[in-house]
Amino acid sequence: MGAAGRSMTTAQRADRQQRGGVGLLVLRRSCSYVCVAAVGFLLLVGVCLLYLPDPLALEPSFAEDSSEVTLLIWTHPFGRYRKLPDCFELFQIGGCTLTDEGSAYPRADAVIIHHRDVATGAADLPPEPRPRAQKWIWMNYESPTHTHRLWLFEDYFNLTMTYRTDSDIFLPYGYLVHRERGTKGLQNRFAQPLRAPSRSHLLRPRLLAWVISNWSESHARVSLYYQLRRYVQVDVFGRSGRPVPDDSGGGSVVRLVGRYQFYLALENSQHTDYITEKLWNAVQAGAVPVVLGPSRQNYERFLPPEAFIHVDDFSTVRGLARYLLMLRHNPAQLRRHLDWRGSYSVYQPSFWAHHYCTACRAVRRTRGRTDVVQDLTRWFHS
Ligand SMILES: *[C@@H]1O[C@H](CO)[C@@H](O)[C@H](O)[C@H]1NC(C)=O
Ligand SMILES: *[C@@H]1O[C@H](CO)[C@@H](O)[C@H](O)[C@H]1NC(C)=O
Repeated sequence: MGAAGRSMTTAQRADRQQRGGVGLLVLRRSCSYVCVAAVGFLLLVGVCLLYLPDPLALEPSFAEDSSEVTLLIWTHPFGRYRKLPDCFELFQIGGCTLTDEGSAYPRADAVIIHHRDVATGAADLPPEPRPRAQKWIWMNYESPTHTHRLWLFEDYFNLTMTYRTDSDIFLPYGYLVHRERGTKGLQNRFAQPLRAPSRSHLLRPRLLAWVISNWSESHARVSLYYQLRRYVQVDVFGRSGRPVPDDSGGGSVVRLVGRYQFYLALENSQHTDYITEKLWNAVQAGAVPVVLGPSRQNYERFLPPEAFIHVDDFSTVRGLARYLLMLRHNPAQLRRHLDWRGSYSVYQPSFWAHHYCTACRAVRRTRGRTDVVQDLTRWFHS
């Protein structure tokens, strides 16, 4: 089980370890000094869990430079128009002018380029020569398996913006904030507090749900499902199953999953840090996520170890199924997987408002510096 997950292990992990030093440098580049000090200290004491570079560090400080930054959004991702946010109103990030007008190109400090739109040819790259000091930002939220023609874009970009923790501009699909350690204010405005489990929470009548929109027989997650359903009831929703009730907004999945004890948070492909809203929806809903994705160790950078059940924790799918059935009849044991919630809030950045404003801030921070993204393909696949 987890064959795809395992196939990316040894070689790539070794590669990652070699890159560790580089990763830290990249991380340093994109952090404020305070953040660098904090990350450095925590790495020193060997506490890696949940000390990701903090994408929520949006609190403006008095010392912060709020000089003007013009950020050009080269294409609306996937060709879907969205009104550009006001970064000051939303996040109190001043001095950001976001624009989607190509005529701003000559004076833009940076251009955000969404990979899919240039890779499919829906849009060309901006014209060269580029204005001096302008930064091109490579933005991508698909996994390497679904990121095509990457090699065409070597040596163009200055900054990366993805779900990977070692991106220049890191913004994940979701994120936990420790309620005591997290700063107040803005974080509280966006992060959703989680609750320690109540009695009824522990006794939810339904066992296991899965919402799946893109069914592909070649996905590891589909073969896992075929095996799992031999032992336990799996309620399948989405395009390939029953419809998600009231599918009008993102909240409906969370409401649906909130009736279940467990949720299959199975990624479409298995890659470093590729942990998507599937996991965070389950967390939000209070169902224990059963995950298929990167390694357990990788998930533990985002969540406490007991907050999820990893398919690799079991040598057989039958073992996994038995464990779920055992928990169903042992609320005290189940509680172990849920008690951590009392101390955390969960935060799911909204696409793409948060991304643009975070990028704007990063552009200001790296102003006057030359940044070059080398080996984009090799890095993204590592
Ligand atoms: C669905 O999965 C297939 C097979 O992996 C992939 O080629 C395709 O791009 C996916 N579609 C979407 C919308 O993610
Ligand atoms: C941006 O990247 C290009 C291509 O690697 C490079 O020539 C240019 O000097 C970089 N500019 C900045 C401001 O970092």
